[in-house]
Amino acid sequence: MKRLLALAAAALLTVSASAGSPGDPGAGDPYFPGQGNGGYDAGHYDLALDYNPGSNALNGVATISARTTQELTRFNLDLVDTLKVRSVTVDGAAASFSQQGTELVVTPAAALAAGAGFTTVVSYGGRPTHVLDPDGSRDGWIRTSDGVFNANEPQGAMTWYPGNHHMTDKATYRFAVTVPSTRVAVANGDLTSRNTGGDRTTYVWDAREPMASYLTTVSIGKFILTDTKVGNFRTIVAVDPKLAKDATTLAQRHGPVLDYFSSLFGPYPFSSTGAIVDHEPNVGYALETQTRPIYPVVPSESLLAHELAHQWFGDSVTPSRWQEIWLNEGFATYAEWLWQDKIGQRTLQASADGAYARPETDEFWQTPTADPGGPAALFHDPVYDRGALTLHALRGMVGDTAFFTILRTWATDHKYGNADTAAFIELSERVAGRDLSGFFDAWLFKPGKPAL
Ligand code: ARG
Ligand code: ZN
Repeated sequence: MKRLLALAAAALLTVSASAGSPGDPGAGDPYFPGQGNGGYDAGHYDLALDYNPGSNALNGVATISARTTQELTRFNLDLVDTLKVRSVTVDGAAASFSQQGTELVVTPAAALAAGAGFTTVVSYGGRPTHVLDPDGSRDGWIRTSDGVFNANEPQGAMTWYPGNHHMTDKATYRFAVTVPSTRVAVANGDLTSRNTGGDRTTYVWDAREPMASYLTTVSIGKFILTDTKVGNFRTIVAVDPKLAKDATTLAQRHGPVLDYFSSLFGPYPFSSTGAIVDHEPNVGYALETQTRPIYPVVPSESLLAHELAHQWFGDSVTPSRWQEIWLNEGFATYAEWLWQDKIGQRTLQASADGAYARPETDEFWQTPTADPGGPAALFHDPVYDRGALTLHALRGMVGDTAFFTILRTWATDHKYGNADTAAFIELSERVAGRDLSGFFDAWLFKPGKPAL
């Protein structure tokens, strides 16, 4: 908001009122400055994709409904230039465009008024490939022997569709994905249709709740797809046949985890749940893709709990900047500990003690949880385990009732939105009725091993 006001003020000073100005090429995230764009707010993506796993040929038409936040002469979308844009229209009129690295720059035929809704259609295609993250992980369109393992945190979304790819611009999505009929295409949300014509099948998925683009997925393979009601939840599970014999109870296993977390954190925020299990152990991580996490192996109880807890913490409530990723990973790790305690696998005390036991000289205690120092450290232990310990210490400090009130209020107040560490501290202090700045300073912002 502050930034928008500053931009508006600058526009008044430097350009005449009717000229408008170009949108920012980034959303201003200190860890990923090129991510996202300014000048508009995306509301809905309709992605029509056609994919051939054999040749890795992707053809896409992205229809993006958005609203301007300023009078706009030009705006950017994020898309890697290994994919070639064929045409762009804005409100039905041809727009000029250029591709510069990961930026697609679009100039509509006429400037767009401030606060106006507009629709951009981008036709594009090519042979997508993943990116390498600062931590060395593959991210984005990760090819497999029979399709694609598609995980997009923190920057993979730009490897397969144009968008406003920063977590602060959430939108709803519809995916219509056409693949050879020997394959299945799985995405977020609800499967609404499946149509076969000739030897190709189109899968349509509707994700009706707002979603950050790093949580989208279109994963493709020879999956076994099941769609069942587990307790209150529509549970759609896609499993690689190579892993099928270990996944026979996977859909059912969602029920007790979601019930338990609903009792602690408030109602499950989405219309369906499930999993994508693709045999790609070399990927090395799972991801909490919204409604339907993706796993490179059949998840253990703790991994399942971790990714499902993210549906509340990370997916429904999303940080505002990457450095605040402890709001995702610390919370999901703590929930994992709670679930392991609940099922008698390991007590909460044992999990907390294990993490706390690291020597003070360890990197773990020298890295501030709420800003681990740069994008290479986003998914390291100080974010996960020290983040979880921070919550455990907070619980000890304020007591169980206040602690779970804080978590539930967090999930309710920021449902489908973004919130930052400052808001979490403010909420904790409000619920606890006391100043906690010294406590949070020691746990989140300063190096060193705080007393537990
Ligand atoms: N958020 C994921 C999880 O902990 C981890 C994603 C790791 N991504 C990466 N590029 N290293 O559930
Ligand atoms: Zn996680």
